[in-house]
Amino acid sequence: MKRRDFLALLAAAGLEIVLTPKIEAREDPLIAHLELALQHEFGVILQYIQHLGKALAAGKDWEEVLEGIIRDEVFHAVHLSEMLKRRGQEPTLAVWPPQTFSSLKRCLQVDLEAEQGAISLYQKMLSLPYQSREKKWLARFLTAEKHHYQIFGTWLEEMRMPRVKRTLWRGLMG
Ligand SMILES: [Fe+2]
Ligand SMILES: [Fe+2]
Repeated sequence: MKRRDFLALLAAAGLEIVLTPKIEAREDPLIAHLELALQHEFGVILQYIQHLGKALAAGKDWEEVLEGIIRDEVFHAVHLSEMLKRRGQEPTLAVWPPQTFSSLKRCLQVDLEAEQGAISLYQKMLSLPYQSREKKWLARFLTAEKHHYQIFGTWLEEMRMPRVKRTLWRGLMG
């Protein structure tokens, strides 16, 4: 099923919060963003687990680093759930549709896009007009997402290189 079809299905089921949270309509603007971020984290956790399996099958030595990224996303999801519960909201189990492709390079491209989306979302959440000690958590999440973006970007660059240049690059990167 295509991502577009999946979203249409959710809309038909009346789960509009999954598609377009009514951010402006909420009293606390952070709540809708927390829900959206939580869905996004759940989505990338599944996506990255599947991509790691495919990468290992392709002989990539990404296990340690990618498992670290997955652990970071789990940490984010747990604490976003905690923040929602503290606000009297029941944390969602909705999952932003994960994406995959048969090509590992294409998988990395969507992983990179997912990280860009997370960076934009946490930047937006940090810019909202509210005071809370939770801002330091969100800032920490943002730092992690920027780091993930760099890692996926480096792997993608490496995969785009011709084989000879790739060997040289690996030597330089240690
Ligand atoms: Fe995350
Ligand atoms: Fe991330």
